[in-house]
Amino acid sequence: MKVLITGATGLIGKVLIEKFFSTGIKVNFLTTKKSKIHSIKGASGFYWSPAKKILDLKCFDGVDSIIHLAGSRISRPWTKSNKKDILSSRVDSTRLLFLSLKNNIESFHIKNIVSASAIGIYPSEFKKTQTEKTNSTPNSFMERVVYAWEKEIENFSSFNIPVAKIRIGLVLSFSGGVLKALKTPTNLGLGTYFGNGEQGQPWIHINDLVEIFFKAYKDNWDGIFNGVAPNPVSQEKLTKTLAKSLKRPFFLPPFPKFLLKRLIGEMSHLVLDSHWVSSKKVLDKGFNFKYENIESAIKDLVKKIDS
Ligand SMILES: NC(=O)c1ccc[n+]([C@@H]2O[C@H](COP(=O)([O-])OP(=O)(O)OC[C@H]3O[C@@H](n4cnc5c(N)ncnc54)[C@H](OP(=O)(O)O)[C@@H]3O)[C@@H](O)[C@H]2O)c1
Repeated sequence: MKVLITGATGLIGKVLIEKFFSTGIKVNFLTTKKSKIHSIKGASGFYWSPAKKILDLKCFDGVDSIIHLAGSRISRPWTKSNKKDILSSRVDSTRLLFLSLKNNIESFHIKNIVSASAIGIYPSEFKKTQTEKTNSTPNSFMERVVYAWEKEIENFSSFNIPVAKIRIGLVLSFSGGVLKALKTPTNLGLGTYFGNGEQGQPWIHINDLVEIFFKAYKDNWDGIFNGVAPNPVSQEKLTKTLAKSLKRPFFLPPFPKFLLKRLIGEMSHLVLDSHWVSSKKVLDKGFNFKYENIESAIKDLVKKIDS
């Protein structure tokens, strides 16, 4: 068995690849950087450029399933060109994958696809729990990006194969992402939160997320699934739990909302929006979370964070 992974060189991809290796499944991956083609030992890399509509069709040889993670980083200034890239890296990459398969459908035998998506598709909500059925009419930039991305992913259903979209929450990892970014200021006693801190923050431990992707692949999940832990927390709780786990004081006042908006404008949505997202559908699929509570996830990760 062989899978093709896009975005394999990123935070989630690197850990997911290890999971496939550990179960004896072979991995091909697509990378936009020619320098990374030989960067993953034991996997075969192939070049693609969604912007230039270039894809090495050899990447599909012998592949049964696709795991689609590609997308450029959202945590950089939302300039006009970065916003264009955030959208097009998801929409164009998904379209290129789809059209490459569609135009060569007799040559390949893809049985399912599991794609990343994001809880950023849901409107900001301070009280209600959001499920996969929550209506998502896109308003903000992030909502529009994820909505357009999911629309492209849905095209794969025309191959009559299961198409799973995993709406990922904030990924807690030891090798990057939010925990690593917060560790240094928190260690210096400079930990804080934004606004009133009541924003709901659906999070997930990287290992649980990788297991969700693996189960979705193995069990042919079809449809939308929230990739979040069962107990989301407020932003205040998240930042205070990190400080407590690092045994650091937490005394700074919260960073005012108006100032953040003035400093980073529209991008402030990333930390001021609130989501309380349910993991019930994934639990109903028989998934067992190893890290259900923020305390256990942070305790496990904080000692492993690369410095
Ligand atoms: N981490 C989170 O908290 C989180 C939360 C919600 C959703 N997600 C989504 O899950 C996916 C994977 O997340 P991640 O944290 O692993 O991301 P990541 O570390 O930023 O890695 C994403 C990968 O996408 C590829 N990429 C970058 N720009 C690209 C472009 N213009 N066209 C095609 N591919 C491009 C890169 O691989 P190459 O350089 O090898 O091409 C990169 O390694 C992303 O789509 C992200 O939006 C992540």
